[in-house]
Amino acid sequence: MKPCRYGTHRVLEPLGVLPQAAYRLDNTMEIADNEMLIEVKTLNIDSASFTQIKQATGADPVKMAQMILDIVAKRGKMQNPVTGSGGMLLGKVKAVGKDFPQQTAVGTRIATLVSLSLTPLRIDAIEAIHLDKDQVDIKGQAILFASGIFSPIPTDIDEHIALSALDVAGAPAQVAKLVKANDHVAILGAAGKSGILCAYMAKKMAGANGKVIGVISNDHKLADLQSLHACDEIIIASATEPMDVYRKVLAVNNNEQVDVTINVVNVPNTEMTSILITKNTGIVYFFSMATSFTKAALGAEGIASEATMLIGNGYTKDHAQFTLDLLRESKELRILFEKRYGK
Ligand SMILES: NC(=O)c1ccc[n+]([C@@H]2O[C@H](COP(=O)([O-])OP(=O)(O)OC[C@H]3O[C@@H](n4cnc5c(N)ncnc54)[C@H](OP(=O)(O)O)[C@@H]3O)[C@@H](O)[C@H]2O)c1
Repeated sequence: MKPCRYGTHRVLEPLGVLPQAAYRLDNTMEIADNEMLIEVKTLNIDSASFTQIKQATGADPVKMAQMILDIVAKRGKMQNPVTGSGGMLLGKVKAVGKDFPQQTAVGTRIATLVSLSLTPLRIDAIEAIHLDKDQVDIKGQAILFASGIFSPIPTDIDEHIALSALDVAGAPAQVAKLVKANDHVAILGAAGKSGILCAYMAKKMAGANGKVIGVISNDHKLADLQSLHACDEIIIASATEPMDVYRKVLAVNNNEQVDVTINVVNVPNTEMTSILITKNTGIVYFFSMATSFTKAALGAEGIASEATMLIGNGYTKDHAQFTLDLLRESKELRILFEKRYGK
């Protein structure tokens, strides 16, 4: 079969779908003319997926490694069967087919910007699991299709920090488009990786007369979030408890709902909280991979909310550059990323 720009030539089961929806991909590592071969160093597993794997194995690194190996052996890609999500990877270009659109020098360090849930992957060995970073060092190889985007790793930012930021690059870049001056914005999961990027960006867009309300489930990362000076209010409450969060948000927001809600948590059952705290005319941005379309759609209908609900597409134009620039522009963000995701 002539190799397809979207990688359908690698779909083994079921035939006719694109690689993301496929159950199993062909992960043999001989590249077609329009593919790129990558020597993989680190997988950045999507937070919802990593959390699920951790919970299912009692956070035992040996069992986690086995679970990851089993998934990739079965599917030819790292797509968590429970969450459906993937992540992205860091590696070096090993070979480039003659028809691959972005001819890149062999040896260039890159991070892929397409999901592991559609990336053919072979793992030869798992070398380390970084429980606090959602990262897994491996020996292995991966394939990028002609439609697959990637970012060269910059020379001024540590590669693991860049990998962490690039994993969620779509979120702050979308916040820049959604939040307007003077908006009141709530961020569920505000102290997480995408949470701190989104909180910073939301404050930047909303300005001094706007308001950013961070919702976090416990005080472990409270000091981190405070050090960012991005949230006007920080609420400690679980995003899985809609009425509690609703009361607390209204209490700090002149008894009103917010204009924009950004959902960046990594657990299920937070749809109604997001919708309930948002004005009828407002916007809910569901970046969380644990979001259920059914729960959001039927839940909104159930409380007669007309809020606009957006699926958190991980891609928006120039998102990689945009997000790396945030780490260059904000000393506070950079310090937090270095502390959490640096060596
Ligand atoms: N749309 C996309 O393309 C895309 C791309 C990448 C990631 N994602 C998704 O985006 C989400 C965030 O990713 P991330 O890398 O930023 O994850 P992260 O760093 O793990 O952050 C998630 C945050 O949610 C918090 N949280 C967990 N349960 C909560 C609850 N009940 N109430 C309030 N907060 C709670 C966590 O707090 P604790 O640490 O205290 O538990 C953590 O701070 C994940 O669902 C991930 O799968 C989406």
